[in-house]
Amino acid sequence: MASLRKTELGDLDAVFGLYRNVAGRPGGLARLETEIDKDFVRRFLRRAIDSGVAFVAVSDDGDIDGEIHAVSPGIFCFSHVLTDLTIAVHPAAQSRGLGRQLFETFMREIMESRPDIDRVELIARESNARALLFYESLGFVREGEFRRRIRNVDGSLESDIPMAWIRHA
Ligand SMILES: CC(C)(COP(=O)(O)OP(=O)(O)OC[C@H]1O[C@@H](n2cnc3c(N)ncnc32)[C@H](O)[C@@H]1OP(=O)(O)O)[C@@H](O)C(=O)NCCC(=O)NCCS
Repeated sequence: MASLRKTELGDLDAVFGLYRNVAGRPGGLARLETEIDKDFVRRFLRRAIDSGVAFVAVSDDGDIDGEIHAVSPGIFCFSHVLTDLTIAVHPAAQSRGLGRQLFETFMREIMESRPDIDRVELIARESNARALLFYESLGFVREGEFRRRIRNVDGSLESDIPMAWIRHA
C-alpha cells in the first residue's frame, strides 16, 4: 500500500528515475526517455513545489512509484491557473489504483487548500484513450483538438487534446 505526501526537492533522483522509466514506454508521456534529464526534472519540481501542487506516492519499501504535479505559469494574468499537469506511475505499479489515488489527492488539495486556483490544464495525446477517460472521470473537459501536434516514434502524427478542470464551471 503506497502512502502519499507532498513532493520535496530531495525526491529529485527518485522522480528522475521514475520519469525515465515511464518514458521508456512510448504512448504516454510526451518526452522520450532520452529527453528526460535531471535539469528538466529539477526545474519542474522547483516550480511545482514553489507555486504549484505536487505529490508523490511512496511504496512500503520507500520507492517513489508515482508522481503528479502542475505548475503556475508565473504571470499575473494566469495567476489563477495551474498548467502542464503531468502524472506518471511506474509501469510495474500501473492499473492498481495508484494513479487515481494520486490524482484525487492532488485535486482535493486544490479544491480545499488553493482557493486562488480556478483552472487546471493538461494535454493528452488522442490515442491515450484510457487516460482521457480517466481525466474526464475527474471533472476535466475536452476543450478542443490540436491536430497533428504529436509525432509518434513511428513517425505518424496525431492530435493532442487540451483539457481543463474549472472550479466555477
Ligand atoms: C495514466 C496513468 C497515470 C494511470 O495511473 P494508473 O495507476 O495506471 O491508473 P489507475 O490504476 O489508478 O486507474 C485509473 C484510470 O487510468 C486508466 N489507466 C490504467 N492504466 C493505464 C495505462 N497504462 N495507460 C493509460 N491509462 C491507464 C484506467 O482506465 C483507469 O480508469 P478507471 O479508474 O476508470 O478504471 C499511468 O498509467 C501512467 O503513468 N501511464 C504512462 C504515462 C502517462 O500516460 N501519463 C499521462 C500523460 S497525459
